[in-house]
Amino acid sequence: MKNLFLSLSVLAVIMVLGACQLGINRSENAITVFSERHYEADRELYEMFEQKTGIQVNLVRGETDPLLSRLENEGEDTIADILIMSDAGGLHRAKERGLLQAIESPFLMEVVPEYLRDEDNYWFGMTKRARVIVYHPDRVDVSELSTYQALTEPAWQGRVVTRQASNIYNQSLMAAMIEVLGDAEAYDFAEALVNNFAESPSGNDRAQANKVLQGIADVAIMNTYYFGIMLNSGEDWQIQAANTLRIFFPNQDTTGTHINASAIGVTKHAPNPEAAQEFIEFLLSEEAQSHITNNTFEYPVNQNVELPDLLVSWGSFKEMNINLKALGIHNNRAKEIMDQVGWDN
Ligand SMILES: [Fe+2]
Repeated sequence: MKNLFLSLSVLAVIMVLGACQLGINRSENAITVFSERHYEADRELYEMFEQKTGIQVNLVRGETDPLLSRLENEGEDTIADILIMSDAGGLHRAKERGLLQAIESPFLMEVVPEYLRDEDNYWFGMTKRARVIVYHPDRVDVSELSTYQALTEPAWQGRVVTRQASNIYNQSLMAAMIEVLGDAEAYDFAEALVNNFAESPSGNDRAQANKVLQGIADVAIMNTYYFGIMLNSGEDWQIQAANTLRIFFPNQDTTGTHINASAIGVTKHAPNPEAAQEFIEFLLSEEAQSHITNNTFEYPVNQNVELPDLLVSWGSFKEMNINLKALGIHNNRAKEIMDQVGWDN
């Protein structure tokens, strides 16, 4: 009986040691990604990376604020190596809260333009998004369009739709306006834009396109990549919207069109920072960037990548090339202004 007890104890110790060994091996050959992005194309990229490197990619999906709180709460014990958000402002806020670490990568410095990355190398843009004016060509002549600000004129009374104030895309558009126009002018812009809304904001970007298609409004402020998503949706109204409506890049003679970026960084307490950096460098490679733009219809950050025909058909345009940290810096004030002018949440 005593011998049996001893043997069981030895076995238990061996099992514990085995589990530790397993734990060490797993952290060396795996990374965990906290991501706000929800594309099948991303999952395919992770598989490409796994095949190339033998490093397993674990994905935890979530929204900006819960992911940031989780990182903060887990502190040094976090399982996360990588943080990906659909808005560069979110990465700036993560940096400010001490949740990221700087990485040294000559490759990333070369392929990611300066305005799309953090000045201290805490985060890098991964995909670009353009927030544009979409119009119905039967009801709007392109010569009537010029800037975001022009949509606040009396001629556009009751003709404009866009999403709620709670949406990060509009918060970042407002943050960019604060950066380029200054606070007072940005406030006036928001107030006058809300006055020209066709109805109280509701629905996602595609719902705005549908409202223009249905005649509820004549123009929508929305992201371009939804045209690619709508064309490939298999749903009649979405395909019709993408084939009927037109994209207009505003502010071409002034500040340029508002750009946002999905962005990526290594967490402060990443268990596996070397593999995490390798992962980011892979995502910015021509191979990965080409896969992204051909599947999600976002613009590549790596300029060596050829655009898909659909994106070429929308035309080239001048970007508002403010550093995207401005979107994080002005996020609170943007939300405050939207609230004050009655932009519904
Ligand atoms: Fe989106």
